[in-house]
Amino acid sequence: MFRKILYPTDFSDCAVKALEYVKKLKEAGAEEVVVVYVIDVRDLATMSTGVAGFGETPVTYDYEVQEMMIANVKKKLEELKTEIETVGLKVAVKMPEGVPRKEILKTAEEENVSLIVLGSHGKSNVKELLLGSVSEKVIRYFKGPVLVIKRDEST
Ligand SMILES: Nc1ncnc2c1ncn2[C@@H]1O[C@H](COP(=O)(O)OP(=O)(O)O)[C@@H](O)[C@H]1O
Ligand SMILES: [Mg+2]
Repeated sequence: MFRKILYPTDFSDCAVKALEYVKKLKEAGAEEVVVVYVIDVRDLATMSTGVAGFGETPVTYDYEVQEMMIANVKKKLEELKTEIETVGLKVAVKMPEGVPRKEILKTAEEENVSLIVLGSHGKSNVKELLLGSVSEKVIRYFKGPVLVIKRDEST
């Protein structure tokens, strides 16, 4: 039923927590996992304009920062792949650039996954919100089932 899983991660605590469930789904018949990290184009835009304003010279060294960030993500994704493979699941890794919710939904469709497993929250982790902005849209628009792993909350 959940043969092919899409696991979108932003490496936040909640997404890391979701990984444990991805691995456990092997016992429920999962065979393949597609891991996706979306490089947010809006972050790239912020980086290339920097925080310069009010007549300051725009920052131009950010290209290096971007390259470093991308190399770091690639490394983390490779480690993640190895970790998931150890439980006997087949793993594919993707790192598209774009708007996270759109790229996640596009990947889900292209890969024809049977389940999406993600965190309720991510890096922003706004206390007042029941769901993050990405998880909300993914849950809303994905046609199939979504397993949402919640952050730890205290009342
Ligand atoms: N850039 C991204 N690439 C892949 N997955 C992401 C990305 N951003 C968020 N996610 C997934 O969506 C979940 C919820 O994150 P998000 O909705 O962005 O919450 P927040 O608004 O708190 O940052 C994350 O735990 C992760 O599984
Ligand atoms: Mg986020």
